[in-house]
Amino acid sequence: MKILVTGGCGFIGSHFIRLVLRSRRDVRVTNLDALTYAGNPENLRDVEKERRYAFVHGSIVDPDFLERTAGEGFDAVVNFAAESHVDRSLQGPVEFVRTNVQGTLHLLEAAKRHGVKRFLQVSTDEVYGSLPPEGAFTETTPLHPNNPYASTKAGADLMVRAYVHTFGLEAVITRSSNNYGPQQYPEKFIPLFVTNALEGRGCPLYGDGMHVRDWLHVEDNCRGILAALEKGKPGEVYNLGGGNERPNLETARAILEILDRPESLLQFVKDRPGHDRRYAIDCTKARRDLGWTPEVPFDRGLRETVEWYRAHGDWAARIRSGEFRKYYEKQYGTPFAKLSKQRAGGGESTPIRRKKK
Ligand code: NAD
Ligand code: DAU
Repeated sequence: MKILVTGGCGFIGSHFIRLVLRSRRDVRVTNLDALTYAGNPENLRDVEKERRYAFVHGSIVDPDFLERTAGEGFDAVVNFAAESHVDRSLQGPVEFVRTNVQGTLHLLEAAKRHGVKRFLQVSTDEVYGSLPPEGAFTETTPLHPNNPYASTKAGADLMVRAYVHTFGLEAVITRSSNNYGPQQYPEKFIPLFVTNALEGRGCPLYGDGMHVRDWLHVEDNCRGILAALEKGKPGEVYNLGGGNERPNLETARAILEILDRPESLLQFVKDRPGHDRRYAIDCTKARRDLGWTPEVPFDRGLRETVEWYRAHGDWAARIRSGEFRKYYEKQYGTPFAKLSKQRAGGGESTPIRRKKK
């Protein structure tokens, strides 16, 4: 079986690729990634010599490139590629529409044209909007996205739905809550707070710090995505949540306690515009139909995650300094500058580089 994974150099995609290579010996994975600021090939350094793994540098917003890539013949596509950070979508929503909506559309089209048997769209609980203090999102909760990022993810989900209904594409959607774990880009809440606290810098809590997120360990999410890919019914949505609802203030305090850093590092700052108050996921359907259940308790997962960042200070430092780009250029030979032009609409994507047998 051959799987095309998009956005595999990002946080969740890299964990997913590792899981597939480890647990499915008969599967070959091609990782297609544009290597935006969030794509870090170093996240997959441990598998890049694996014979069943190939990397291809390119963008899902480039239909010609997708056409050539899909022409290689894939049984399944798993789409992680996205602009994923809410705060960035407030500053520059256009790139979010391009990547998340148009990119997904181009990928669906390529999958349709080349007879891809399974398509998995990695979506988010943010498409449902915000919850009052009680209740949880189910798969039938109406879409009510509140920020540009969430709206583009909802738009992509609707496009997936159209390809199932109109063209019979066997596509499945997963919608997960907030992921956490090693190798998450340090702009997101948990890695930002950990890396800032380790450097003795302030940790900016938005608003009153009482916004609630339901934390799901990235490995639990990846197991859910794989289960949905293998067992999900076409056209269905599966919610994946950790059952770990916490106000941000509580999570921030837990991080500081693990690091033995003072609470004075917490800084209450202006709230994020349109900030969703609460997310909570009902994942009864995934438990029942996919046999999936989250396994990592939050206390343990958070402690191990914090310890990972503490032990890999060089990882975050390299991201902050852009050092990993040098690694990329040495490994793959394509300067990042070329990619920026390509994302702006021109230029060539690099062809698939297969490992020598
Ligand atoms: P990330 O920002 O860490 O990684 C995104 C990856 O996509 C990067 O490797 C980037 O280079 C790549 N990419 C961006 N634009 C591309 C393009 N045009 N073509 C090809 N590759 C491109 O994101 P993440 O946190 O790993 O999220 C992965 C997916 O999961 C996203 O679709 C996101 O919406 C969804 N999601 C994330 C979370 C979360 O908590 N992080 C929760 C639910 C859903
Ligand atoms: O719910 C799933 C979504 O979770 C994913 O679809 C998104 O890709 C992912 O980025 C995440 O979105 P959030 O906006 O919930 O995540 P973020 O890490 O940006 O923020 C988590 C919470 O912490 C949120 O309530 C905002 C708050 N926050 C965040 C940052 C970066 C702060 O208080 N301070 C901060 O500096």
